[in-house]
Amino acid sequence: MAINSLKMLSISELEDVMNDIYLKTDESKIPWNIPEIPEQLIALLKNYQIKDRKTLEIGCGLGHYSLWLAGKGFDVTGIDVSSIAVQNAVKKAKDHKLKCRFITGGFPETKELSGEKFDFIFDWEVLHHIGFGDRGNYFRKVADLLNEHGFYYSVSFNEKDPFPGGTGKIRRTHMGTTLYFASLNELEDQLNAHFDFVFIRTEIIAGRQNPHVANTFLARKKS
Ligand SMILES: C[S@@+](CC[C@H](N)C(=O)[O-])C[C@H]1O[C@@H](n2cnc3c(N)ncnc32)[C@H](O)[C@@H]1O
Repeated sequence: MAINSLKMLSISELEDVMNDIYLKTDESKIPWNIPEIPEQLIALLKNYQIKDRKTLEIGCGLGHYSLWLAGKGFDVTGIDVSSIAVQNAVKKAKDHKLKCRFITGGFPETKELSGEKFDFIFDWEVLHHIGFGDRGNYFRKVADLLNEHGFYYSVSFNEKDPFPGGTGKIRRTHMGTTLYFASLNELEDQLNAHFDFVFIRTEIIAGRQNPHVANTFLARKKS
């Protein structure tokens, strides 16, 4: 598949596609929706002493990881482009009596977070929704929202991931989303301007059907 042959979804088209998925698909069948907290996230908190932080989760989906952190005393905001996912996450927070803010918005376009600062920002399986040409703005906004030396943690599909929908850098999924598969080097090049890496590596992460080859990194905002 040639690299620019698949049309990129605008943020409102993405919202429609995501709302449709979250409305029509049983939670247990949404391919990325795994309520169990990933071992990588658990290890990250422990190994890097990330605790009680003011935290932003970008692309929080149904809110499982945001709510887990809120339960640990973190001050968490979860943002997602899908209003349906956010409504669902708000309900889960209420049901579990957890204090967690969820907002609907496309990142980095959202104005909702203007003037705010966070100590820890993470996105789990979200970056591969962001077109290669849009990642500069995305990373700049993450850096703008971080306090000095704040942490940015990210997990997204690597170009070698055998995800159904082809083997190219840009793949259309059966759910109507378009995903962008980067190499570690590409990510490193785009992040270097704003961040110093604590680690950057490929890892195998759990998937509902099959495991994935993922690019993972923990980085700190440059001073
Ligand atoms: C693969 S799902 C992962 C959801 C969640 N992180 C999880 O692991 O369960 C990607 C999520 O990111 C959201 N998303 C994709 N692009 C986004 C953007 N530009 N801004 C905000 N949310 C976005 C989607 O609506 C979806 O909920």
